[in-house]
Amino acid sequence: MTEEIRPGLQDVVVARTEVSTLDLERERIVVRGYDLIELARTVRFPDVAHLLLRGHLPSSEEQAAFCRELADLAGLPDGVVDVLRRLPRDTHPMDAQRTALSLLAGYEDPQALEDPSVEAAERALMRILARAPALTAASYRALRGEPVLEPNPGLGFAGSFLWMIQGRPREPEIVAVFDRILTCYSEHELAASTFTARVAASTLADPYAAVVAAAAALKGPLHGGANEAAARMFAQIRMAGGERAAEAYVLERLARRERIMGFGHRVYMHRPDPRAVLLREDLEAFAARDPDAAEMVRCYDVVVETMAREKGLHPNADLPIGLLLHLIGIPVELMTPIFLCARIAGIAAHVLEQRADNRLIRPRAAYEGPSGLAPPEGFTPSAC
Ligand code: SDX
Repeated sequence: MTEEIRPGLQDVVVARTEVSTLDLERERIVVRGYDLIELARTVRFPDVAHLLLRGHLPSSEEQAAFCRELADLAGLPDGVVDVLRRLPRDTHPMDAQRTALSLLAGYEDPQALEDPSVEAAERALMRILARAPALTAASYRALRGEPVLEPNPGLGFAGSFLWMIQGRPREPEIVAVFDRILTCYSEHELAASTFTARVAASTLADPYAAVVAAAAALKGPLHGGANEAAARMFAQIRMAGGERAAEAYVLERLARRERIMGFGHRVYMHRPDPRAVLLREDLEAFAARDPDAAEMVRCYDVVVETMAREKGLHPNADLPIGLLLHLIGIPVELMTPIFLCARIAGIAAHVLEQRADNRLIRPRAAYEGPSGLAPPEGFTPSAC
């Protein structure tokens, strides 16, 4: 047993994978051999999901079949919506989404759920990926007592997702930005939530359990919750006076040793996150179209410059995505649930890989507590 302890498992390599890697030297995120940023520029999220789940970019026939499969599986069982309507109104949509994911397991064939094969897992993960947008939009709308909208496959995966949240078809350029956000979020090696999913999968828990475990880990503000926190930060800066208030906003918090969400990364450390670099271009496009957006983007740039000067930190994907989703009109509470929907594609790839060559994940801990103790003479055991 090695005694060297690496807090947070920093830089500890725990698995071999063919899914993705963060190539720091070339500042690239490589997903099954492709540059994720190039994929975000040139293909659509369903193509990336196919690459992750089935190992290759789809041919035109495979694209049609995959999109049909996603559309056919997209709807929700009525029972799930009924339960969502009974949740307390203040339930966070991440919690409602996680609850609904667990409920979906009950609609699976029990034998299929317990089938340990890779094929059975792939079928279940495809259903989860397909249903995640409807489940996410329904979670939010049911909590607010609004009508839950059916998927609209004719709008495409990203367009239908926005339709179910916002209740109206969006402009092609908005759908294209949203699709790029889904691709940027789709896969990122062993992030805390993906590793959590692999741990659950290593016990041969079913795919729903693995995705629910990942959803729980993703919620934290140090991880997926950072996009919501970043969006809230920009709203606060706007209220405090906009661009001229942005630098002071950051400096005050740094002086209190608070963290500015959307900055820093365990792996990138003081390097740029390629996703944030790409998505800053989309912010530019919004700024060119809308003076309010232009003001927010100027705030964004002041915050980025201040963090670079004061902490040597770059934005991670959550900073531009938090602002972009706000500019698209997405409620802040739905930002992390949207992150999960996209990441289900990457989680699925890792769960399948774990199943294909599984070993239970069970690390050790270096005990530093007392030893050799015994209950004192006359100790009376509890009555309960
Ligand atoms: C995601 O793993 C992934 O790939 C995740 C993700 C994905 O696609 O799945 O990329 C998505 O989760 C991105 C990260 C989103 N989280 C945030 O934006 C939250 C804010 N960032 C941090 O708290 C932090 O940067 C972490 C958690 C992301 C990484 O933390 P580490 O590697 O444990 O680094 P650390 O906490 O030890 O910080 C090192 C130093 C400290 O300074 P000192 O106390 O040594 O002086 O950097 C400082 C920290 O205070 N620091 C920050 C900061 N992040 C690090 N200071 C201010 N603001 C920040 N955001």
